[in-house]
Amino acid sequence: MKINLSKNRTNAKSFYPYFDDSNSVSKEINERIIKDKDYFSKKYQIKKYFLDNGEITVIRLGKKSDFDLETSRRFGSIVINTAKKDYDENFDIILDSDFFDNNFSKEDSTYALLEGLYLTNYEYDIFKTKEGKKFEIKSINLTSDKEIDFEKIDNKAQNVRDAIFLTRDLVNAPANVVNIATLQKEAERIANENNLKLKVKDKNALLKEGFNLLYSVGKAGAEEPRLVEIEYKYDETSPNICLIGKGIVFDTGGLNLKPENFMADMKSDMAGAGSALSLIEYIAKSKMPINVTTIMPLAENAIDSNSYRPGDVILGYNKKSVEILNTDAEGRLILADALSYADTKDFDLVIDFATLTGAAVIALGTKIAASFFRNNSVKEKMFNSSKKCGEPIWELPLFEEYKENLKGDIADIANLGTPQRQAGSIMGALFLSEFIKNGNWIHFDIAGTSHLDKEWYYNPKGGTGFIMRTI
Ligand code: BES
Ligand code: ZN
Ligand code: ZN
Repeated sequence: MKINLSKNRTNAKSFYPYFDDSNSVSKEINERIIKDKDYFSKKYQIKKYFLDNGEITVIRLGKKSDFDLETSRRFGSIVINTAKKDYDENFDIILDSDFFDNNFSKEDSTYALLEGLYLTNYEYDIFKTKEGKKFEIKSINLTSDKEIDFEKIDNKAQNVRDAIFLTRDLVNAPANVVNIATLQKEAERIANENNLKLKVKDKNALLKEGFNLLYSVGKAGAEEPRLVEIEYKYDETSPNICLIGKGIVFDTGGLNLKPENFMADMKSDMAGAGSALSLIEYIAKSKMPINVTTIMPLAENAIDSNSYRPGDVILGYNKKSVEILNTDAEGRLILADALSYADTKDFDLVIDFATLTGAAVIALGTKIAASFFRNNSVKEKMFNSSKKCGEPIWELPLFEEYKENLKGDIADIANLGTPQRQAGSIMGALFLSEFIKNGNWIHFDIAGTSHLDKEWYYNPKGGTGFIMRTI
């Protein structure tokens, strides 16, 4: 799907963003809309009109004063979904002066539209047998008389799309296709293509260096657990940022086996690792002026005579002993070792992404990610960015007084809070907090947002890539 910007209309089919307080709508369109006003009541409502020289689909975007970048993205998503339904291969989107009459720069408004268009045009169909040719949108012509450096924003939008699609592909792929070896190979590809340093710790290295939590969680899996680390170095003086992603390639729950309806989606339990990996590729490709290290603890939480057990005590990388109360709380264990390892390197900022707790889905649903912060200025920046990107986050507290609920019977700390079902996401985050001292640490629990059961504007059903644009 190719998108370009030109001053002229080239297609008989077009889409038009309509504002209630429009000044610039053309007479031929306006006459039709005015007659129809009664029907035209909801934001994002669609109306199709046949004009003398073609067909125009009008999408109502509300008042100009209510316009924000998310409106632009959602407009883009509706255009793509409508065009696909109607088999429109080539069409115009008419951007007259109303579209730019808002508080945002013309570049930002257009860029958000590009994100909406590109991110919606996603399908995960590689396993479907093709009968005939699948329908694809070929070209979109944005028409505007504004001077916009289109190539620059289009490049950025395409790079963002590629990064998000990589995460979505990795999340949507079943566990018999994307496993530990595949994620390592993907990391190798990214390292090779961008000249990045890559380190892989295999089972022997994990045991030798004391990553016992990661090793124990993964030791029952058909593939050995691993820690993959990629480094993008910009220069000596830029800030050093660490991205850590939970990489459980499949979560059966282990010996505390998940009930069947809770297991089906667990191929997506590596969404955090997928995001941290795709992010470093984007950052390296765009040559961003920061140093970034991505760390992926990779393991399968499987069942075998060799599985780690409830009751086992395991010594973490930071030498704290952990009492396993539930083998399904495995994400916090592999992350604990990765966070303690990151702590030895003195990063300016450490961010982890994890499909950590079902409790995050219960508390915030699938459209808001849970976030935990130690530093207020970092938090403020994250909230601003999340708002701008249309990726809602909400803070949950690292409530110190609950720490005593993580006491183990015979070890330093238990991997589960008691009473068991209270404040589940906070208990997971508090457990992690015991394994990292860095004051600029952020934890995102993306259990709810990383994949959707039902499409949501430009987020399709399945893997989303949620939180990546905010970062
Ligand atoms: N991977 C799951 C969390 C999850 C649940 C992600 C639903 C996506 C959707 C995690 O490993 C897990 O099983 N957590 C347990 C923790 C509990 C045993 C303390 C949970 O949330 O039930
Ligand atoms: Zn689990
Ligand atoms: Zn899990």
